[in-house]
Amino acid sequence: MFLQKRTAATAIFALTGALVGSGAAIAQQEVKIGYALAAAPDSHYGVAAEKWEEVVEAETDGRYEFRHFPSSGLGGEREVIEGVQLGTIEATIVSSGTLSNFVPEAGVFDIPFLFRDLDHARTVLDGPIGQEILDKFDDAGLVALAWGEQGFRHITNNRNAIETPEDVAGLKLRTMENPTHITAFEALGAAPTPMAWPEVISALEQGTIDGQENPLSVITSANLSEVQEHLTLSGHVYSPAMLLVSKQLWDGMTPEDQEAFSKGAAEAVTAMRAFVDDVEVSGIEQLTEEGMEIGELSPEQKAVFQESLAAAYEQYYDTYGQDLIDGIIAAD
Ligand code: PAF
Repeated sequence: MFLQKRTAATAIFALTGALVGSGAAIAQQEVKIGYALAAAPDSHYGVAAEKWEEVVEAETDGRYEFRHFPSSGLGGEREVIEGVQLGTIEATIVSSGTLSNFVPEAGVFDIPFLFRDLDHARTVLDGPIGQEILDKFDDAGLVALAWGEQGFRHITNNRNAIETPEDVAGLKLRTMENPTHITAFEALGAAPTPMAWPEVISALEQGTIDGQENPLSVITSANLSEVQEHLTLSGHVYSPAMLLVSKQLWDGMTPEDQEAFSKGAAEAVTAMRAFVDDVEVSGIEQLTEEGMEIGELSPEQKAVFQESLAAAYEQYYDTYGQDLIDGIIAAD
């Protein structure tokens, strides 16, 4: 399977490599864009990808042909980002799962209970702090065009309903390969199990993990109700996403085409956020109909979870600086 995925990525490079050259060359030729997504075409990622493509096609007279590889068709997000770094994959929308392995500062947005609501998160990501972190991806050999989002993450599992930190004690919970998240679930006494997304559904089916955590955008589009009984609307952490293109592609474009990709990314983010706004309501209705046992943490219950994260917050202050974290919390 792994070999097949690498082969697909290599094939894209073979197709595009010859074409990604000088801006003048691209101005006349059609360039194929291999576009990797972890989620399904009808997800928040799919909607954003369609919009990005639509804008670029319109602005460049169709000189770029997008080939979508949804549902982890080119592997897990870490492999995909490495592919974009190498130039074997041209574009992607990824979660913040492994981003901090490329730019450590990106992990600050993964701190639990950092953002009050979607508006707060969007304000910070669209502001100077968000831009500063996007710019840092340049040093990692990546062009980060915009912050998108998935929504707030919630816990699903097959063991028990969750109301207190005691309810997650020992819970074998798949987390993203994200040190900030792993620290949080360790502090809560769970048994965090970092795992690439393509392995998660079978691990849930086989019972090697009890649960996972993701936003409603993913829980609905990945049909998690088929393999998970309990959904706790914990909203424990905001889940940003990022729109990335390869430096090889970017450096070969004219400034006009770069502008088209930036405009497309901005419109893709708007489409993605509209999807998230909608699924925050429709997702709960859908998952109720699909038979999930759904509970929501009250503000008081969330406060208890937050208090249990005191030790984790000490680590976050050491890693990211208290001024930055306090500045994000205070932003409005
Ligand atoms: O949980 C994850 O790894 C991510 O949220 C996912 C599902 C790959 C979407 O980016």
